[in-house]
Amino acid sequence: MSKKIVVLNGSPRKNGNTSALVREFSKGAESTGNTVTVFFLGDMDIHECKGCFGGHSSRECPCVQKDDMDKIYPVVRESDIVVLATPLYYWNMSGQLRTAVDRLFALEEGDGNLLRGNGRASALLMAAEGNGFEDVVLYYDHLMEHLRWKNLGHVLAGGNGDVGDIEGKPELKEAYELGRAIQ
Ligand SMILES: Cc1cc2nc3c(=O)[nH]c(=O)nc-3n(C[C@H](O)[C@H](O)[C@H](O)COP(=O)(O)O)c2cc1C
Repeated sequence: MSKKIVVLNGSPRKNGNTSALVREFSKGAESTGNTVTVFFLGDMDIHECKGCFGGHSSRECPCVQKDDMDKIYPVVRESDIVVLATPLYYWNMSGQLRTAVDRLFALEEGDGNLLRGNGRASALLMAAEGNGFEDVVLYYDHLMEHLRWKNLGHVLAGGNGDVGDIEGKPELKEAYELGRAIQ
């Protein structure tokens, strides 16, 4: 059965290496009939979590803040798979993605947990100049355990500093195959 996939792209570079992984992943996933919605977070107005614990998961706008997260919440709520895509920034995910992840907490609050479980799965797509992915992979795997989302795996593309460095490299095929395997 086809799946509804949402990709949160936390790179600020539209034609960068993370975006290339997202492009290939999406091509693969769509080739087997899945639908893919990509949010380019860098173009969106997404504020930091205020830590108010005032969210109401079942509301159309579950967070007390009104910003572009309101475009993301309904798509995540309906999704089967949530893909986190990000460049490695100081051995972590980018602030753009980390901020959006915190804001997803509103879907866990108030009226029942609409984020955790629900048969969802996830994958991690990353690009970096070096290969220091360990800390962020550990964090991501812990997040998956907390959210009870099936961990579909990671595509980690090291050795890519400049825009375009990733073109022709095997990780693009890996991302495509990860998408294509979703059915
Ligand atoms: C603020 C910042 C921090 C970075 N930190 C790291 C790092 O810790 N390790 C690394 O290998 N590359 C690091 N890089 C390099 C990026 O991960 C690399 O350029 C990557 O290809 C960017 O992905 P993008 O093209 O999708 O934006 C950093 C780049 C920036 C701008």
